[in-house]
Amino acid sequence: MPNPRDRSKVVLAMVGLPARGKTYTARKIARYLSWLGHKTRVFNVGSYRREHFGASQPHDFFDPSNAQGRAALFDMAVRALTDMTEWLAKGGEVAIYDATNSTRARRQLVTECCSNHALPLVFVESICDDPSVIAATIRETKTHSPDYSGMDPEDAADDFRARIAHYERAYEPIADIDSSFIKIVDVGRQVVLNRITGHLPARLAPLLINMHIGRRPIWLTRHGESLSNLRGAIGGDSELTLRGETYARALADFMRSRVVSGGDTSPPPRSVGPGSRPPPSLAPMSMLPPADSPITVWTSTLRRTAQTASYLTKHPIKHRALDEIDAGLCDGMTYAEIKANMPAEYEARKGDKFHYRYPRGESYEDVIQRLDPVIIELERQRQPVLVIAHQAILRAIYGYFMDRPPEEIPYIEIPLHTVIQLTPTAYGCEEKRFPLLTITESDLTASSS
Ligand code: F6P
Repeated sequence: MPNPRDRSKVVLAMVGLPARGKTYTARKIARYLSWLGHKTRVFNVGSYRREHFGASQPHDFFDPSNAQGRAALFDMAVRALTDMTEWLAKGGEVAIYDATNSTRARRQLVTECCSNHALPLVFVESICDDPSVIAATIRETKTHSPDYSGMDPEDAADDFRARIAHYERAYEPIADIDSSFIKIVDVGRQVVLNRITGHLPARLAPLLINMHIGRRPIWLTRHGESLSNLRGAIGGDSELTLRGETYARALADFMRSRVVSGGDTSPPPRSVGPGSRPPPSLAPMSMLPPADSPITVWTSTLRRTAQTASYLTKHPIKHRALDEIDAGLCDGMTYAEIKANMPAEYEARKGDKFHYRYPRGESYEDVIQRLDPVIIELERQRQPVLVIAHQAILRAIYGYFMDRPPEEIPYIEIPLHTVIQLTPTAYGCEEKRFPLLTITESDLTASSS
């Protein structure tokens, strides 16, 4: 849980030419900080423009010598700033001001606004000159943008390149070393932090360094049915039942069919420029599948996850952070036993499942904080990874990738014997679910809490 000193407000203002991943980065930061419990919102000036002037503005609207276009864009920038400061005054914590802010004059406007409201400001500049990354961004995001809806993709790309050229003529990269800024070069290949003092902006560094745009699936699954599941007991370190073993075998067959034969929805990692490519000599061990497995497999340190992995690999990477939520004094009890013996605890959890902390145990909020390094590590992976863990843990990981509000996380459906495939895309995540056995949690006593 972010402690009170972490609740201070901050404005992050994006900087950079169009198609340099500003919105991608802004949304990624917003998703991460929201997941960590900070009230975060993106103020995208492009959305204001679309709302006030309509989506389909031709490239000359953005020409710096078009006085009418310039005035309109300035007006939108001010409106977004006004909404942003109002939102912060009403309890918002992290505002991400997503605009090009590509001239000194425009950054001065943002700086003055923030200093008038006593708001700390950090510029986040995204620089990328790799034509393949820029082309991929235009292809994957801009031609699908509402700005070009119904337009031929080639015409849309041509118009967008003309728009970029207008901005290039006026672009002044950040050079003021007295200001507080983060420069991201080539989607995380180089990250420069200048005069970063606050706790929150510094916390972004691991995310930004490990960010990449390579496409790869992340598979999530709970362990197979365990003896505790059968009894309806929470926590513990029990072994798999026979059905659980059957799932472990089915899981191995499923993963082999998807990875070894290529599968139909698990494309190989695609290289689109420097952001997607780790230098081979620096590839960390956790990126490489063990010798006996077609893919990298992560488990918790509890027996039921290692047993579920055992038909795939005898050497999964065991992360303590993936251990199930610590039920403290309630560990090993059924929900009915908690209700009968500790009714106040039962009611407190029912009333606020996200914040409720088991006596001498953890809350969902605690679980999210301990999973922070796991998320960063998952962001860093270029290869497919299979995560075999537990219900509460997978709810938290899924909640991050699917950008679910933290309070919803304790209720996300993560059934037994089902593989969830998440494939990060430009602005979100594609999801597919594969139930491999018909037995699910709803057939078990442990289904309700
Ligand atoms: O019941 C299986 C289990 O993994 C328990 O070990 C754990 O306490 C529980 O699920 C988490 O789910 P909930 O937060 O809904 O109780």
